[in-house]
Amino acid sequence: MEIVRKIADLQDIIAEAKNNGKRIGLVPTMGALHEGHLTLVRRCKEDNDICVVSVFVNPTQFNNPVDLDKYPRTPEKDSALLESVGCDIVFMPEAEEVYPEPDTRIFDLGEIDKVMEGKMRPGHFNGVCQVVSKLFDYVKPHVSYFGEKDFQQVAVIRKMTKDLGLDLDIVQVPIVREESGLAMSSRNMRLSEKEKADAVAISKALFESKEKMNIMPLSEVRQWVIDTVNSVDALEVEYFDIVDGDTMQDVENWNDSQYIVGCITVYCGEVRLIDNIIYKN
Ligand code: PAJ
Repeated sequence: MEIVRKIADLQDIIAEAKNNGKRIGLVPTMGALHEGHLTLVRRCKEDNDICVVSVFVNPTQFNNPVDLDKYPRTPEKDSALLESVGCDIVFMPEAEEVYPEPDTRIFDLGEIDKVMEGKMRPGHFNGVCQVVSKLFDYVKPHVSYFGEKDFQQVAVIRKMTKDLGLDLDIVQVPIVREESGLAMSSRNMRLSEKEKADAVAISKALFESKEKMNIMPLSEVRQWVIDTVNSVDALEVEYFDIVDGDTMQDVENWNDSQYIVGCITVYCGEVRLIDNIIYKN
């Protein structure tokens, strides 16, 4: 496995691999890797000749500088984990390498950016598009992998890829969970044991709500999830929206779309957790 820090070096290695007819897959990450990330990497390795993983805490997608500072950085551990799952190239640049000049590009993400994470974290998805478009440009992968954990992010990446006319496939990988059901996240390491146990109520409510689909009206299921999660002292729902899986716009009835997803964010103490459930697809 090669660890590369400079764009020019990365491009040289990729150019050679492409000349040799190799198929290239890319997994963008911000590090602090866990089994969720590693599942994407394994999938990338299975499907491609060369698996490139980027580890870069992208400053432009943080609207809160404290969050950026607090973001866990574990480069040695990340490298060891990536090596263990057969990653070929790790791209770990400094911020100055990726942003020698401030990135002033604005991506018009339309309605997708006006709801849920887009609404709660203004500018967040623009920053994601800035960095991911740069990574796509450096690597020019045949395919790139994203987790359903960040459901809206995949929709944003699909839109950006289409709008820019890029010739690559976007593969979306199901959420990897702890045995308890809690969605794996780099933020889980900021939870106490008690908080971790309390946070299980989030996925539990989502799973149970799926059994209520078609039996209970959609608006009642939505309210039931909010009330059930909020009934745990340590948890406070920020939003729970039941949306169309492509457009991210609210759905009123279970029959209104073939692709319906419930997306939730919950504060557990100071930590903002995100999860979702696919009701139908
Ligand atoms: P990060 O939060 O590090 O996540 C990297 C990728 O891993 C994302 O596609 C995310 O959805 C996926 N992932 C995280 N936890 C997962 C889980 N439990 N199950 C399945 N997939 C999971 O998302 C980002 O970084 C950044 O926004 C990035 C796309 C790298 C741009 O900076």
